[in-house]
Amino acid sequence: MAQQEDVFKKIVSHAKEYGFVFQSSEIYDGLAAVYDYGQNGVELKNNIKRYWWDAMTLLHENIVGIDSAIFMHPTIWKASGHVDAFNDPLIDNRDSKKRYRADVLIEDAIAKIDDKIETEVAKAKKRFGESFDEALYRQTNPRVVEHQKHRDELHQRYSDAMNANDLNELKQIILDEEIVCPISGTRNWTDVRQFNLMFKTEMGSTADGSMTVYLRPETAQGIFVNYLNVQKTGRMRIPFGIAQIGKAFRNEIVARQFIFRMREFEQMEMQFFVRPGEELKWFEEWKKTRLKWHKALGLGDEKYRYHDHEKLAHYANAATDIEFEMPFGFKEVEGIHSRTNFDLSQHEKFSGKKIQYFDPELNESYTPYVIETSIGVDRMFLSVLCSSYEEQTLEGGDSRVVLHLPAALAPVKCAVMPLVKKDGLPDKAREIVNDLKFDFATHYDEKDSIGKRYRRQDAIGTPYCITVDHQTLEDDTVTLRERDSMQQTRVKIADLHKLIHDNVSINSLLRKL
Ligand code: GAP
Repeated sequence: MAQQEDVFKKIVSHAKEYGFVFQSSEIYDGLAAVYDYGQNGVELKNNIKRYWWDAMTLLHENIVGIDSAIFMHPTIWKASGHVDAFNDPLIDNRDSKKRYRADVLIEDAIAKIDDKIETEVAKAKKRFGESFDEALYRQTNPRVVEHQKHRDELHQRYSDAMNANDLNELKQIILDEEIVCPISGTRNWTDVRQFNLMFKTEMGSTADGSMTVYLRPETAQGIFVNYLNVQKTGRMRIPFGIAQIGKAFRNEIVARQFIFRMREFEQMEMQFFVRPGEELKWFEEWKKTRLKWHKALGLGDEKYRYHDHEKLAHYANAATDIEFEMPFGFKEVEGIHSRTNFDLSQHEKFSGKKIQYFDPELNESYTPYVIETSIGVDRMFLSVLCSSYEEQTLEGGDSRVVLHLPAALAPVKCAVMPLVKKDGLPDKAREIVNDLKFDFATHYDEKDSIGKRYRRQDAIGTPYCITVDHQTLEDDTVTLRERDSMQQTRVKIADLHKLIHDNVSINSLLRKL
């Protein structure tokens, strides 16, 4: 685990050093849990968004996109339940003055018991070798059985407290489990209180005439309140979906793990409107479709798993996360929720406008049910970055840091390099750049030795380097170096476009879906 933490630290500093992610307001000592994307980060992020957007809107003729405003009428958040229920239970430690999420403290305690069980099992596996019967060991070893019993009871107690919103019980669990503050090491806790995660601001210029508005905590509500507009103007027939990419804001109590939990982040959400009663069928369908989208990137199928929710949000009748194995464990990247007709019904009630669909096949009107797929752009970015990072030792003792980014997501697709800065090689290289740049993000680089230039491109994940040498001037061929294998092949300049395009286009990913 400590080793994984080291790797994660290296990834964070690599992200800064190579222009992917910077701390926001860094020259003023930063702003907690807010980040800026640099020159390479923004390209990677845009490619992730393009892959999602095209997979939704190009590959499904019944899904269209919108771009709604961040500010919305405040009653929307009353109707959606966010004003009353978008809370996290927080607790303070009186000695360290640090604030924590009570649920996270308890979940961490459960994870520690899980770790103890797995350590026992791993030790026994090593001891008994081939003859080890893991299932039997888990059922019979007294220490494992005791830990498991403790874990199950604690988990049940925690789930019950969360489902009942019982803040006193959450505090009692923290006390009974003897959970200490990681900073002060004490158990001097305050009571658990609810904390609303929405940011508020004032809209309007005069004190009397102004009203409190919220920065949206999810993009989904912008879709719900435009349901009628899109359905009518787009003549959409159920089932159909509306997709949106945009910023969301949450005043997270504990912001941890770099861009994993931020206060300003970006979401890619799609609300799919279906007939009542058909929602669970569509829920299963979207679970599969979304996992396929992730796996097509080739980051490793074993890095994904579903995690079904036990505590359902106030609007859902089924919910699953797609988790990805980050250096700090399996974590949620995307949520798939069956949101029933909760949101549309609430907006019908609060706005007084009829939000119904007339189904010509059934010859009846109803409030559509909704399946939502909701993925964080930043978490997706983090999962791609973490799984791509590798420190490689090469033959001859040399080493390199390489980002094995999926080629279609890489910020720069190819770098063109004259072997030397003379003899007309730079002009020839520029000629190639001027041709390729219309289709691919192309770099020109003539500084330093060719080895150093390759390393720079490896570090930002550029799939191809093209080197122009003296032979190029004679026969119009160049060397094409592939990032992962480092293999170099001599190819004709005229063939470059096709060779590169086949591997780096978003199209190549979409065709796998
Ligand atoms: N509309 C449903 C919704 O917002 P959510 O599970 O709260 O559901 C969806 O959020 C996704 O948004 C998450 O799976 C995660 O990828 C991303 N997300 C949520 N909070 C985030 C935060 N504080 N920082 C970065 N990403 C976040």
